[in-house]
Amino acid sequence: MRFEQTEFELIKEMIRAYTWAERTMHTKLDIIHESLQEKEDLCPISHIHGRIKKTESIADKLAKLGFELTAKNAKEQIKDIAGIRIICPYAKDIVFMVDMLKELPDCEVVSEKDYVTNPKSSGYRSYHLIINVSVFHSGKTEKLPIEVQLRTEAMNFWATLEHQAKYKYKNQIPQHLSDELIICADKISELDNRMYLIHEIISLINEE
Ligand code: GTP
Ligand code: MG
Repeated sequence: MRFEQTEFELIKEMIRAYTWAERTMHTKLDIIHESLQEKEDLCPISHIHGRIKKTESIADKLAKLGFELTAKNAKEQIKDIAGIRIICPYAKDIVFMVDMLKELPDCEVVSEKDYVTNPKSSGYRSYHLIINVSVFHSGKTEKLPIEVQLRTEAMNFWATLEHQAKYKYKNQIPQHLSDELIICADKISELDNRMYLIHEIISLINEE
């Protein structure tokens, strides 16, 4: 799907502001990351990735949702034009980070989905927040949404593979593979828990 030229120009202009919003949030997170690295024995953040959705993907998503391909509709309907993914070592770090994200200045959590406690039927696990970030530009403050996804390394490993499968099979993953992916998702969750237990035991030894 493609935007018509006038809408394309408008969306390009709009995306500039989302780029600034992503940069603002990313910087806040980089500072938290650096400060935690100095203090914590094991930092609750492994890495942070940010991305801006491509105009073609915005158009595809609007079409899928049944909306006309306009910049206005993109702004109203699509909350993940700017996205940031935070990869954490353990599931408990996700909880810690979510609490911290709720305290960020000039930011407001407007929606929250806990697919860690309540995984999707596909087996997908992650914690999703939509956070409105205030960005001052062109003489005024604009609040723009960013989708923040938090996952463990193991959940990310799974989501990347499942995403590849969805892409290859055009969203129609054969039953035997989706069954296998569900089994893997459960095993990965168990692995996350077991590894965390080992980490806790090691931490106790260090404290003695
Ligand atoms: P989207 O229209 O895809 O944004 O979904 P949504 O608006 O219903 O929100 P949801 O919180 O369900 O998913 C948002 C994003 O999470 C997606 O764009 C993906 O990046 C990721 N995601 C959600 N479900 C899955 C899944 O089953 N597998 C994988 N690999 N990623 C998923
Ligand atoms: Mg989304």
